[in-house]
This record gives sequence, C-alpha cells and structure tokens, in this order.
Amino acid sequence: MRASNSSSEEQKFQVRKLQISDKNKGFIQLLRQLTVCDSVSDKDFKDRFWELSALGDDHIISVVEDESSGKIIATGSIFMEKKFLRNCGKVGHIEDIVVDSNARGLKLGKKIIAFLTEHARLMGCYKVILDCSLENKAFYEKCGFKQKDIQMIKYFIAVLPCICVAVDVCVCACIFLFLFKLIRLVGIVGLGHGLDGAGLK
Ligand SMILES: CC(C)(COP(=O)(O)OP(=O)(O)OC[C@H]1O[C@@H](n2cnc3c(N)ncnc32)[C@H](O)[C@@H]1OP(=O)(O)O)[C@@H](O)C(=O)NCCC(=O)NCCS
Repeated sequence: MRASNSSSEEQKFQVRKLQISDKNKGFIQLLRQLTVCDSVSDKDFKDRFWELSALGDDHIISVVEDESSGKIIATGSIFMEKKFLRNCGKVGHIEDIVVDSNARGLKLGKKIIAFLTEHARLMGCYKVILDCSLENKAFYEKCGFKQKDIQMIKYFIAVLPCICVAVDVCVCACIFLFLFKLIRLVGIVGLGHGLDGAGLK
C-alpha cells in the first residue's frame, strides 16, 4: 500500500472516532511511529478509553482504518480548552498526528487534520492550534495552518536518559581506544629505542 497519488485510494479511507477494538488493530504500534509509547495493558487501554469517552466531544481521537488489512493507519486527536477570555471562548488543541510509514503521501494526514479542524469549528472554537517540528511545518501549511510564536516546554519526566547513556558509552569507548593506541605507540617507540640502545637495530 505504498504511497501512490491515486484518488481512489484516497477516497477509500474514511476518518472515524477511535473504538475500543482499535487496540488490537495496531493503534498503539502506530503511536510508536510518533514517539515513545510503552505497551499498554488491555485494562489500562479500556480505563483510558472510557475516561476520554466520558468527555464526549471535548476530547476525541480520530483514526483511519485500512479495511483491507484491518489496521489503523492514521490517527490524530483534539481536545477543547475552555477559557474565560474571548467571551468564555474555546480553543481546540490538535495532538498526536501520525500516519503509518507505509501510507504516507495518500493525504491521510491532511484528512485527519481536516476532520479535527472541522470538529473544532463545530464545537465553537475561535481557533485551533498545534505544536510541530520544523520539518513538518510545510505539511501543516498545506493543511491551512500558519506559524505563530514559539513553543516552550518543561518536562516532568526524564526524556533523554537513553540518549545520555549512549553518548556516555561512546565517549568512554573513544577515550579507551585513544589510550589503548597511545600505550601501543609508546610501547613500540620504547621498544625501538631499546633495540637502538642495544645496537640490535
Ligand atoms: C507528517 C505526516 C502526518 C504527514 O502525513 P501524510 O499523510 O503523509 O501527508 P499528506 O499525504 O496528507 O500530505 C499533505 C500535503 O503535505 C505535504 N507534506 C506531507 N508531509 C510533508 C513534509 N514533511 N514536508 C513538506 N510537505 C509535506 C504533501 O506533499 C502534501 O502536499 P500536496 O497537498 O501539495 O500534495 C506523516 O508524514 C507522519 O506521520 N510523520 C511522522 C509523525 C509526525 O511527524 N507527525 C507530526 C507530529 S507534529
């Protein structure tokens, strides 16, 4: 199902809301293509699903299922922020947009964004916003968004321990290799001098 620009392929994929059965259709695996997503037990999935369902249209997760494979191949979510300003206005926050790597280029990302944006409009939001990396800026521009301001962040969890450990290991390995070569070189030179001194060279 590699990306082709066939419009029939584009039309056959419909956006719908997440269903509880989607856990067995690769929904969690799909999220792993976006960021770290540990395995989720059936119970935890159900609990979170019903917790979000209780919020109704204030928080929805949309998906696209590939009917032929029975796999979830695209997803994105939106939640409503209720404010006092702007006449107790609402802002839609789009999150967790990802399309399966084998289905990119089929306009599924655009479809998901259009679905979520329309949801925000129908919910009476005065704007809809999202964060993205620079490399995805052009994609969101194609979806009608424009860049504004910058993003600030403070994590409450350690997000980089693995990277730090990997860097430490590499640095140690390089130092060890350097010292090893240095010792060998000194040893060879020393041996050379020793042979010279003994008039054996
Ligand atoms: C970014 C992503 C969601 C795009 O999904 P997609 O289904 O492949 O994109 P679409 O086919 O809907 O593309 C829509 C348009 O955006 C363009 N586009 C898509 N990704 C792009 C990118 N990274 N840079 C520039 N343009 C891009 C397409 O060429 C297309 O242009 P067109 O309408 O002129 O033909 C997908 O690549 C993805 O899941 N990436 C990994 C996860 C990720 O980074 N998610 C975003 C988190 S903020």
